[in-house]
Amino acid sequence: MGVGAPVRGAVVTAAAAVLVRCPGKVNLHLEVLGRRRDGYHELRTLFAAVGVWDELLVAAAPEGVLELTVEPAGAVSAGADNLVLRAARAAAAAWGCRAGARLRLLKRIPVGGGMGGGSADAAAALVALAAVWRQPDPAAGLDRLAATLGSDVPYFLIAGAAWGSGRGTELRPLPDLPPWWLVLLPGEEPVSTAEVYASLGLGPAGKALGSPVYDWSAGGGPLPLGACRNDLEPTVTARWPPVGRRLQALQATGPLLAMVSGSGGTVFAVYPGEERAREVAERLGPYRPMVAPLLTRAGSLLRPMVVEEA
Ligand code: C5P
Repeated sequence: MGVGAPVRGAVVTAAAAVLVRCPGKVNLHLEVLGRRRDGYHELRTLFAAVGVWDELLVAAAPEGVLELTVEPAGAVSAGADNLVLRAARAAAAAWGCRAGARLRLLKRIPVGGGMGGGSADAAAALVALAAVWRQPDPAAGLDRLAATLGSDVPYFLIAGAAWGSGRGTELRPLPDLPPWWLVLLPGEEPVSTAEVYASLGLGPAGKALGSPVYDWSAGGGPLPLGACRNDLEPTVTARWPPVGRRLQALQATGPLLAMVSGSGGTVFAVYPGEERAREVAERLGPYRPMVAPLLTRAGSLLRPMVVEEA
């Protein structure tokens, strides 16, 4: 039972068990335009995949069996509310599928940190189950199904660099970013995304104004780092002061960019290469930093690897 070569969804038609590695993300730019009628907020955002990986192993099981185990135990709930199980139930309903599955999730992406870990796991579950439950056209309708699970889930089906609008689910793939490296400082304090958005106290979304980052997304060239910002950052750092302290620690290292990741509480800084990122991480040891590269699209797309043939 060896690990097979990575294969893209449609090629996997007869797997009894597959493994999917799922990366985290940061938002290099996150503009909030205001509230929408559906209660979500209208965004313009630059997603980028980061080389911090969860792993999801999915094996076929008899009808009626839907089980999840999480490692390290307790890292996230393994109960029915886990996004992986919600993804599995949604997929079974959408595909009219009665087979069961056993899922094992290895967590490494910081939990509740604004790096999309739960969303990545949910997207990985969809991709893995399409293979294990032998969907004839595994990619069909996956983006719509993903959007029902969370605003960040569809992004992980595109991965790499991507421009997000709407509530974050309308996506445009972008060319790969430079091979930058990140230092990430996760936090202990769980930050609630819903609470952060509610605290903005914004009125209805107006029309998007032009911005240098939007122009870059349409026209290319070097990313205007000076114009990159996260509109959630002032609220997150005011409400969760340790997040602001971690951000200051990173800003003091002279990065290309330092920012709160999504709704936090992980903060990250961008450096031109690995060596500088590792030096900074060494200096910030007490913060328990993680060092990871930005990923290309090819390096971050979710790929089911066959671990057991059907
Ligand atoms: O979509 P997701 O479940 O990840 O969002 C969590 C919460 O964050 C939502 O319930 C909503 O309160 C808030 N949110 C928002 N606008 C977005 C994305 C999320 O208001 N574009």
